[in-house]
Amino acid sequence: MSIFIDSANLIQIKTALELGWVQGITTNPLLLAQSDLELKALFVALRKLNDGPIFYQLTSNSFESSIAEAHQTLELLEKQLVIKLPPTDLGFRLCSELSSRIPCCPTAIYSPAQALVAREAGAQYLAVYVNRATRLMGDGLKLIEDIAAILKDSQTKLLAASLKSPDEATLAFLAGAHHLTLPYSTLMDMSRHPLSDEAVKQFETEGVGLVQRD
Ligand code: E4P
Repeated sequence: MSIFIDSANLIQIKTALELGWVQGITTNPLLLAQSDLELKALFVALRKLNDGPIFYQLTSNSFESSIAEAHQTLELLEKQLVIKLPPTDLGFRLCSELSSRIPCCPTAIYSPAQALVAREAGAQYLAVYVNRATRLMGDGLKLIEDIAAILKDSQTKLLAASLKSPDEATLAFLAGAHHLTLPYSTLMDMSRHPLSDEAVKQFETEGVGLVQRD
């Protein structure tokens, strides 16, 4: 299981990676559009911060230009690249073509049928939009459960995305997600609890240890 940060903001990504338990970065075209950096410079910076997977979504709209974009991205990100693909006829065709050479992740998944197709197309990851599915269709966690059953014993790992709270992230994992990608605020909230804060405060104010606190 891995937890990734879903962001293209360098400051957020650096802070998240320094936590020590975040193992990679997922991006999408909308997140990249918010970055102040030119994309090649951003990728160079991301590789300096992290040696785990970096997910990049192809934006070309033909087969040939998408293959060229995949190779261009591979030159920049090398073995860290995971190619995200929209769940279109073109996206799944590209998944079949590329997944034996570059890990692929069909994204924006809302149905078990799409998961079956991704499995057949050899995807290494599948990004399922949990919170959006709950908001738009009723039950994103049931969707995770169904897709986890479909992907059982396959090489395709379920990446739960669009997660808006620690509880939702945890429930997605319990429902069968293999990996989670979290926006910065959710990620930072994962390790926190108000009662833990109280306990820590008491340790600090009333407790003693081998060394004096600063
Ligand atoms: C995942 O890869 C997506 O970037 C993200 O989770 C999309 O969902 P959201 O826009 O609802 O956060």
